[in-house]
Amino acid sequence: MKVLVTGGLGFIGSHTVVELQNDGFKVVIIDNLSNSKIEVLEQITSITGIKPQFEEFNLLDKPKVEAFFNSNKVDGIIHFAASKAVGESVERPLLYYNNNLGSLLNVLEAMLVSKQDNFIFSSSCTVYGQADVMPITENAPIKPAESPYGNTKKIAEDILNDTTNAHSLNAIALRYFNPIGAHPSAKIGELPIGVPQNLIPYVTQTAAGIHEQLSVFGDDYPTPDGTAIRDYIHVVDLAKAHIVALKRLIENKNKTALEFFNIGTGKGSSVLDVIYAFEKATNKKLNYKIVPRRAGDITEAYADTTLANTELGWKSEKSLEDALGDAWRWQLQQK
Ligand code: UD1
Repeated sequence: MKVLVTGGLGFIGSHTVVELQNDGFKVVIIDNLSNSKIEVLEQITSITGIKPQFEEFNLLDKPKVEAFFNSNKVDGIIHFAASKAVGESVERPLLYYNNNLGSLLNVLEAMLVSKQDNFIFSSSCTVYGQADVMPITENAPIKPAESPYGNTKKIAEDILNDTTNAHSLNAIALRYFNPIGAHPSAKIGELPIGVPQNLIPYVTQTAAGIHEQLSVFGDDYPTPDGTAIRDYIHVVDLAKAHIVALKRLIENKNKTALEFFNIGTGKGSSVLDVIYAFEKATNKKLNYKIVPRRAGDITEAYADTTLANTELGWKSEKSLEDALGDAWRWQLQQK
């Protein structure tokens, strides 16, 4: 079985390639290195002992996408390639709409023309906005997006809905909660460009002395300790969800042409919970201060994972401490 992984050198993509190869799949990666490094290919090879096929090009280059699909037959496509910085998307919305949606359209069109099926899409819990009920099920209403980035995820789901209705194409959209951590080997992990915006890379960089202090954005949320709550999932658990979703499509076990699954742990953790868990996992004290809320942040989001448990037979296995310990070991590898 051969699988195409777009964005396969990125954070979630690289971990998914490792799990695919460990499971016996042949992998071909398309990545334009816009937010990843070629060294990741060597690191994947060193973890699994197998070098994946690698094609470096931009998915906005439609002739190249068509040529690829005409000469490569795959059993499934896992599509990660997209821009993901929320703040940048607010400043450069057209870049985000063009890149995230243009590449999706090119891949889907090429799939239809070359009659290839089975598409796994990286969606996000951001489509729920601030959901009214916790934990969040897949039936929770979709709320207006807080950012152009979030909107590209919502629109992509709509595109998949219309496309799977009109054509014989099967797809699963995985709505990720907050992916964190790194591979236990510390050979692959998250490579934030510049100052990280996400909590965990900021935590590990602060502990490593790169930043003096972590800012905790708000302690006046209506939560038990006043800080905002998220569902932090280990990236290796998340990667494994892609394998079971892909097998579901390959084995024709999907119930509808397009299915959605929440991929989280089901457990909400506050920012202070994360800080304490980090301190426990690493035996390091973290310097932090409380500052005002960050604009656009929601109070809480954590997943109801019943559907993923029952339908996919998937469940997260690693704890928050596991993820933070792995993130820390990865940080220590960075120069
Ligand atoms: C963010 C994006 C989301 C995207 C996800 C990808 C926003 C508003 N949302 O989610 O669309 O899918 O990343 O990983 O950017 N925090 C601090 N101090 C920090 C950084 C974060 O206190 O220095 C807090 C935040 O206020 C939040 C929590 O930590 O409560 C998690 O933040 P983050 O890691 O940025 O993820 P999200 O905001 O949930």
